[in-house]
Amino acid sequence: MKKIFSLAATMLLTVTALNACTTNESRPTNNDTNTTNEKPMELKGKKVLVAYFSWSGNTKYAAQYIATKLNADEFEIVREKPYPTEYQPCTEEAKIEKEAGERPAINGKVENMGQYDVVFICAPVWWYTAPMPVFSFIEQYDFKGKTVIPLCTAYSGPSSTLKDIVKATPDSDHRDGICLVTKEMNAIGMEKLNSKIDRWLSGMGF
Ligand SMILES: Cc1cc2nc3c(=O)[nH]c(=O)nc-3n(C[C@H](O)[C@H](O)[C@H](O)COP(=O)(O)O)c2cc1C
Repeated sequence: MKKIFSLAATMLLTVTALNACTTNESRPTNNDTNTTNEKPMELKGKKVLVAYFSWSGNTKYAAQYIATKLNADEFEIVREKPYPTEYQPCTEEAKIEKEAGERPAINGKVENMGQYDVVFICAPVWWYTAPMPVFSFIEQYDFKGKTVIPLCTAYSGPSSTLKDIVKATPDSDHRDGICLVTKEMNAIGMEKLNSKIDRWLSGMGF
C-alpha cells in the first residue's frame, strides 16, 4: 500500500499544480446544483444509500464510515473487468478510459433504488474527475426527487469530481460535497479524517 501511495505522490506532483486553487470542500453554486428549494429538505431519518467506488481503499473507508453512522445501505461500484492491481498500469488504463469517455460495464444493481431519499455518491479523484464506472452507475438510475451528496477522496484535491457528480444528476437536489485529501497525512490513516466527516454530516442535519 505504501508503495502505491509513494508512486501516487510522484505522479501527482503534476496534478497538484492543477489543483492548486481547489479547496477541500466544494461548494457548488446553485447553477451547478440545480437546487431550487428555498428551505432544504430535512435529511435526518431519511432512507440513505451510500454508493462508492474504491480502488485502493480510501473511499471505501469513508463510505463505510458514513454508512455505519447513518445506518445506511451500501453499494460498491465495481467495474466488471477489474483494473490492474499495480498503480502505474491502473493509471494508464484509467486515463485511456477517461479520454474516450467510456462507460464500462459494472457488476450488480441496486435493489429497489426507488426506496432511497438520499444517495451519497463517493469516488476517488482519477485524472481530475470520478472514475468512469461511477458515471456508468449514475446513468443507470433515475435520481429525480432524491438528494444526491457527492464525496471524493484525493491525493491533492477534488478538481472537477464533485461538480461532475452534481452535473451527472441534474434532476436531484444536492448538498455541498466534501473532498477528503490525503496529501497532508502522507496518504495513509483515513481515520484521521473521521471528525471532518462528522462535522460535514452534522452540518447537513444528519
Ligand atoms: C488512476 C488514478 C488517478 C488519480 N488521479 C488523481 C488526481 O487527478 N488528483 C488527485 O488528487 N489524486 C489522484 N489520484 C489519487 C487518488 O484519488 C487517491 O489516492 C484516492 O484517495 C484513492 O481512493 P481509493 O483508495 O478509494 O481508490 C489518482 C489515483 C489513481 C489510481
